Amino acid sequence: CGIVAYIGHREACPVILKGLRRLEYRGYDSAGVALLNGQLNVYKKKGKVADLEAFIADKDIHAHVGMGHTRWATHGEPNDVNAHPHYSTSERIAIIHNGIIENYAALKKHLQQQGHEFHSDTDTEVFVNLIEEIQKQNHCTLEEAVRLALHEVVGAYAIVVLSKDAPDQLIAARKGSPLVIGVGEGEFFLASDATPIIEYTNEVVYVNDYEIAVIRNGKLDIRTKEDVVQTPYIQKLEMELDSIEKGGYEHFMLKEIFEQPKSILDSMRGRLELEAGHLNMGGVRAFEQKFMNAHRIIIVACGTSWHAGLVAEYLIEDLARIPVEVEYASEFRYRNPVLSERDIVIAISQSGETADTLAALELAKSKGATIFGICNVVGSSIARATDAGAYTHAGPEIGVASTKAFTAQVTVLTILAMIVGHRRGTLSDVKLRELMVELYTIPQKVEKALELDTEIQQIAEIFKDATNFLYLGRGYNFPVALEGALKLKEISYIHAEGYPAAEMKHGPIALIDENMPVVVIATRDSSYEKIVSNIQEVKARKGRIIAVVSEGDTTIPPMAEFVVEVPHTSEVLMPLVSVVPLQLLSYHIAVLRGCNVDQPRNLAKSVTVE
Ligand code: G6P
Repeated sequence: CGIVAYIGHREACPVILKGLRRLEYRGYDSAGVALLNGQLNVYKKKGKVADLEAFIADKDIHAHVGMGHTRWATHGEPNDVNAHPHYSTSERIAIIHNGIIENYAALKKHLQQQGHEFHSDTDTEVFVNLIEEIQKQNHCTLEEAVRLALHEVVGAYAIVVLSKDAPDQLIAARKGSPLVIGVGEGEFFLASDATPIIEYTNEVVYVNDYEIAVIRNGKLDIRTKEDVVQTPYIQKLEMELDSIEKGGYEHFMLKEIFEQPKSILDSMRGRLELEAGHLNMGGVRAFEQKFMNAHRIIIVACGTSWHAGLVAEYLIEDLARIPVEVEYASEFRYRNPVLSERDIVIAISQSGETADTLAALELAKSKGATIFGICNVVGSSIARATDAGAYTHAGPEIGVASTKAFTAQVTVLTILAMIVGHRRGTLSDVKLRELMVELYTIPQKVEKALELDTEIQQIAEIFKDATNFLYLGRGYNFPVALEGALKLKEISYIHAEGYPAAEMKHGPIALIDENMPVVVIATRDSSYEKIVSNIQEVKARKGRIIAVVSEGDTTIPPMAEFVVEVPHTSEVLMPLVSVVPLQLLSYHIAVLRGCNVDQPRNLAKSVTVE
């Protein structure tokens, strides 16, 4: 979910709506606003922010204090009633909430006994009634009631609370879900991330877990849940406004796919110094001894970031000879994993907010492991919870299906593996130099791969009505196959499976017939001969082969129905190039099917619930 709030001299509603549109990637099944202006009015609607805008077009929206929410449903289906903000029973207090209150059922029962009425199925409505009940019982200020309520709720939250009885005041708190405050001239902005704030101010305060922020009379007061006053730490944001706008592209996803030559370069900047002949990564330097002595590296991540982790498994084992395990954060955290102080846990996350990944790293930390973070969003929760790390510098990624963040993650992980391998002596000077030279050419090669766009659009035309897809790859291209299949599922709703090509014969081969599109990533590498045999196996069963091959390949084209040629590069770096046509394929298929590419159904970009 995404939250935004405003207090200051401007009209609050337009600021909030614009902010909600920027945050829509975080959830978009319903949206709402609460405006405080003598009255406390709540307007909310199932659907997109645009539906909410249409709904409030004829309402009185004049106010200088307000808040808004865009929802990704957890408790309760997406509808008008379950949308946020939620009122307390008296309708004097309203709340927006991102997160999950785990003990909501018990709290609700208790509150019902006290006479509170509930209209929605949400845990959030329980939260706001709890605040109201506490205020009533204790005859205390709203601020005090919020603080006491936080002691009773179990779970994750970022909340903003408004009350009719506190007309010039905005209260917010967080635990586990992100919250940023933008500090302007006599005005304040609150949001789940900085994108709604950046056009007004670049001075921000990241609220920490268990902190409560109260804004009133043009002043920001931050305290802990225990009521200890904190000094707000104001940071300067370095984000350009045009980096969060579409800039002439039809969709953010397409813009982000095409930004990859630049985002990959940005992720290498200052790290790959070809002329000087060295590689740098502050986070690795800080941890040099840990990496030298590591027994094992465990990578925790979700979704596309997990796929980047799989590429890293090949990279780190190959180049640095440290055993690597790649774990779904959601499984790892509940598995009582075996960890020691000589293990390094690498958490990979574009948003830096994924709840499972954050919990997995906290668990690893508690068992003494060293935590290294690879995040895209600067100042995000995961970035702040790690001992050291490296930012990916891909710039804001808005499309829900991750593209440029993936290649940026792989770039950073490649550099990490090279540095560690070189220091450990498993990667020779000569090999290091060769790889550095090759890595340096990757942005141009990605640029070249992007020229395949029109060709891929034509392939998409042919396969747009398919109901299933199989993606096959081996070695470094196996994670790419998984990623290609995930991209297609996410945005086109076509069922797709990624598989290691050789494993196909143990199951998926049964699915192959003359209707089954099979995307095979078969660039020239050490498993090339083997994957050629796998292509034969598909062909023998009449599968429709779309092959991604290295430029100049003459063996595969006669076997495949469609061939996409990508520039050749070292096997180790190939995922950075071979993933590009798969991103484009899923994009074009989704567009041709009329799907909402940037905001696919049921998904959210930043999953701050477990
Ligand atoms: C969601 C997004 C995916 C992303 C995954 C992990 O599912 O839709 O694109 O890969 O979360 O997110 P993270 O921010 O941790 O990389």
